[in-house]
Amino acid sequence: MPGGGVVAVHGTTDVNRIEAPVTVKAYLIVAFAAFGGIFFGYDTGWMGGVLGMKYFIKQYTHKEYPEVLYPDTSSAQYTAYKKDFKIPAWEQSLTTSILSAGTFFGAIIAGDVADMIGRRITIITGCFIFAIGCILETASTSVGVMAAGRIIAGAGVGFISAIVILYMSEIAPKKVRGAVVAGYQFCITIGILLANCVVYATQNRLDTGSYRIPIAVQFLWALILGTGLAILPESPRFFVKKGKLDLAAKALSSVRGQPVDSEYIQDELAEIIANHEYEMSIVPQTTYLGGWANCFKGSLSDGSSNIRRTLLGIGMQMMQQLTGINFIFYFGTVFFQQLGTISNPFLISLITTLVNVCSTPVSFYIVEKLGRRTILLYGSMGMITMQFIVGIIGDTAGKADKHNHSAVSAMIAFICLNISVFAMTWGPAAWIVIGEIFPLTIRSRGVGLSTSSNWFWNCIIAVITPYLVGTDKHDANLGSNIFFMWGGLCCVSLVFVYFLVPETKGLSLEQVDKMLEESSPRTSAKWKPHSTFAQEMHLAEKQIEIPVEHVSDKTVEA
Ligand code: BGC
Repeated sequence: MPGGGVVAVHGTTDVNRIEAPVTVKAYLIVAFAAFGGIFFGYDTGWMGGVLGMKYFIKQYTHKEYPEVLYPDTSSAQYTAYKKDFKIPAWEQSLTTSILSAGTFFGAIIAGDVADMIGRRITIITGCFIFAIGCILETASTSVGVMAAGRIIAGAGVGFISAIVILYMSEIAPKKVRGAVVAGYQFCITIGILLANCVVYATQNRLDTGSYRIPIAVQFLWALILGTGLAILPESPRFFVKKGKLDLAAKALSSVRGQPVDSEYIQDELAEIIANHEYEMSIVPQTTYLGGWANCFKGSLSDGSSNIRRTLLGIGMQMMQQLTGINFIFYFGTVFFQQLGTISNPFLISLITTLVNVCSTPVSFYIVEKLGRRTILLYGSMGMITMQFIVGIIGDTAGKADKHNHSAVSAMIAFICLNISVFAMTWGPAAWIVIGEIFPLTIRSRGVGLSTSSNWFWNCIIAVITPYLVGTDKHDANLGSNIFFMWGGLCCVSLVFVYFLVPETKGLSLEQVDKMLEESSPRTSAKWKPHSTFAQEMHLAEKQIEIPVEHVSDKTVEA
């Protein structure tokens, strides 16, 4: 449409036309955003390894290396001194868990910011904040600066982890939305693996490179994601929320790879506009605080009320953490060593992280084929089985004093199977669901709150589990019985999914809204779209016209 003009948006009554066909370029755009998962994974992955590095310990504690003070490494003094040659527990706990504090607040604040300045710019801002945190972490030679760096980098990760999900869910084509967001989880797992590899490569260096290299590598992620997003289009749904319909049309044209004045683009845009109008008519936007209060409005017994959706998102992420997966990633090394078969800590983390990486792609297929709800149910059942088996073997043939290697190997195999089940189901599906259940009016805050719940529980687990499996006087010394606890919590997650999680597979975000109104979680999988919002809101009669005067080409970049 050279020269510009206006496009009248009528919408469609055909439920199959509410999304424009998609080109390869559009798939590439959403796939790129998944890269944000690398931050998440890498940042949670490097700290444990760095805290155990000899040079790092010397620098932070000002203690001499054990072998320098006591060259006779078989002496009792050497052994006693080596035992104490570590970062004090409280500093370890502070530097590890402070990341979660930063991410917790980062994710909540990002929800607000994404509604003000847009999803794309919020993620770019997250990359900047993260880079500042990285500079402090890299420069640090004391716990104070490191902790400050961690909290700032954490805030950046909070921004990125919440808003990438939001951005991807809003621009991904409905047929592959689940698979695309599962790609984000895949990147998380690759991030964890990369962190383990880099830490392994530098751990024996006796200079600052030992910890500075693994930290500094992260700049690369910030650079790639920040630069990439500077080129990518904004989410059209953000522009609709802001009432900037011309920009929404351009952005939609870009993410679908279709001309801005094509009927497909108009129909999809009409549906987003009509749905937003509908949501606004139910819960009008008020003040800033009123906007937050809206996240908790409605009745608890109504599956489509805002409060139910917010609690569902928060609960979903809580249950994901309570599956105990991070117990394995954070404390697996110690646990496997206690079992006595594998003594090389790197080999242990390599095995667990590789199982995690290799199993995740299965979810790309099953999340679209079987659906979110179904794989979550199977995931809970699978993890209950694996974890109870580990607990039972641990209490019988696998008991430490029995030195039964086959039994211990079986426990390790079931722990790996448990990781695999998580990676195919709860790992990706928890993120997919939180991107899909919120209406546009509260979506960004809802996703922010849900993501912060993930980090909150992540932190709680990091802080309490050492005491649960610790063998000191006041520790619970649960040993492999801890798997009964995680298995029990997976039983709770099964009930949670059965009663509360709806099936969102194959629906547009606007159709999810309608489905939540017209079905219960248990009947949701059978629900079929039967009308469009454009039809219900009588959009055609409203004669909404979108100025497209800046449009000089048929396929525009936003
Ligand atoms: C979880 C993380 C976990 C990771 C493992 C993510 O979905 O939120 O806490 O470490 O999966 O792959």
